[in-house]
Amino acid sequence: MKSKKHLPLAFCSAVLLSIGSCKPYSAAAQTTAVSVSASVEEQLYRPNFHYTPKKGWMNDPNGMFYADGQYHLLYQYYPDGNKWGPMHWGHAISIDLIKWEEQPIAIYPDKDKYIFSGSATVDINNTSGLGTGKMTPIVAIYTLHDMAKEKDNKIDFEQQDIAYSNDNGFTWQKFEEGNPVIKNPGIRDFRDPKMSWDGMHKQWIMVLAAQDRVQLYKSKNLKNWEYLSDFGKNIGAHGGVWECPDFFQMKVEGTNEIKWVLIQSLNPGGANGGSGTQYFIGDFDGTTFTLDSNFAKRTEQEKAVWLDYGKDNYAGVTWNNVPNSDGRKLFIGWMSNWDYAQQVPTFIWRGSTTIAREIKLVKKGSAYSLISNPVKEIDKYISKTIKEKSLKGKGKLDFVTAGKIDLTKAIVNFDLKNLKQDTYTFILSNTLGESLTFGINNSDHYLFADRSKSGKTDFSEKFASTVTKAALEGEQKDAAFKIVLDKTSIELFYNNGEKVITEIFFSNQPFTSLSVSSNQEIELSNLVINQLNIN
Ligand code: FRU
Repeated sequence: MKSKKHLPLAFCSAVLLSIGSCKPYSAAAQTTAVSVSASVEEQLYRPNFHYTPKKGWMNDPNGMFYADGQYHLLYQYYPDGNKWGPMHWGHAISIDLIKWEEQPIAIYPDKDKYIFSGSATVDINNTSGLGTGKMTPIVAIYTLHDMAKEKDNKIDFEQQDIAYSNDNGFTWQKFEEGNPVIKNPGIRDFRDPKMSWDGMHKQWIMVLAAQDRVQLYKSKNLKNWEYLSDFGKNIGAHGGVWECPDFFQMKVEGTNEIKWVLIQSLNPGGANGGSGTQYFIGDFDGTTFTLDSNFAKRTEQEKAVWLDYGKDNYAGVTWNNVPNSDGRKLFIGWMSNWDYAQQVPTFIWRGSTTIAREIKLVKKGSAYSLISNPVKEIDKYISKTIKEKSLKGKGKLDFVTAGKIDLTKAIVNFDLKNLKQDTYTFILSNTLGESLTFGINNSDHYLFADRSKSGKTDFSEKFASTVTKAALEGEQKDAAFKIVLDKTSIELFYNNGEKVITEIFFSNQPFTSLSVSSNQEIELSNLVINQLNIN
């Protein structure tokens, strides 16, 4: 959120003013204008399978947990306007991480006391004592942001509070008698607690963003927290304030080796401007997180290692309490960017999530990294598959022509073989001549995505003024792409999720064709186009 990001005061009040003036549901004079664009917006822009609230503003995913066969997604929510405002926790559930059902609002703010980002955990042994009935209590911890104090120029306006649920997360009580569970120690940006059970050291742990670093805490009962250490000052990217961390252990794929991962969002200063999410890999001894030496070198060379190079994957964290029998690390992010989130051309709602992703920790030689891919549950929505063994040619190859497949709900997989030192540009286009391009520059070794001609872009100077780039380690011989397409988003997973680019767009008509062009011969193989039956 902008007003807490050390931005000039003038900017902060601009945000507040726009929140105050933005009430599309109550102002009669606006009704006609809103309803005309509203129906266009519904048809053109409401995603087919990415979660959006029915109405209002959303930003970060919060407090995700799994219980009793259901995945819960809570999120930063302002129901009464389409810009950031008094923060609530919205709520949605899903049995498969793909189709979401909106629920009543989970946690409401009190006057001037906004409910900022945080996390929730299923307290299986009722260590908190907050379980009062037969059901396992769910404990949420969030930042209580005191707007009145902030306006008063105090710095201690953020503290950590608890709310709990005794009905599997459908209704919540604030822990009035015990809050705050962590007081503000005199730090201006002190927020977004993410807690989890640390089975290795038999303790609850919490990671919290504190300006230019994270703080780690431990607890026996989720109510009393003891400060352990901090991490991150002068490590990784610091172009903006750190927000929404997540900290957990993971098994290295195919081994029994355990490493610890810190996911760390920051705004601005992301990989391609504005909001972005970096990560770190290392070890945790129960008190201190130490960066793996190899990873430390990489962080220095690359300045930061990014979970996603696109402009639109922010504040993402992982699910709590995924059953051991499943064992996956499941992640979801907010598919927008503070650079323009409040200006994107939707009116009834603003903001959506990324596709839920599975994150894996892999080791190549002695180098650790994360890969991410869409959760496998998406596959059950495949209604039609078109396969082509290979396509070869020079110039421009059309491989999805209008009418063949609905590209507003599709997953397209393909490999590029025998790449030369050239650029291979994929073009998503419509009959209005609008296009979104992406691909690989194999001379200068990077992936790219360019939405400058993708339709509506002028709502913000920052939306399409730069091409998104993700550096590759040298020249590529073969390249594998998976792209997930919805009405307003492309999620590009390169080489099994080694590099990811997530971007939103607002074309004036849906994109209907996909082609590729290059000066060199193009060899496209293993083309599999999956149509999804979902909305
Ligand atoms: C990240 C963030 C968090 C904060 C929330 C407020 O997008 O700024 O740091 O808790 O949004 O809505």
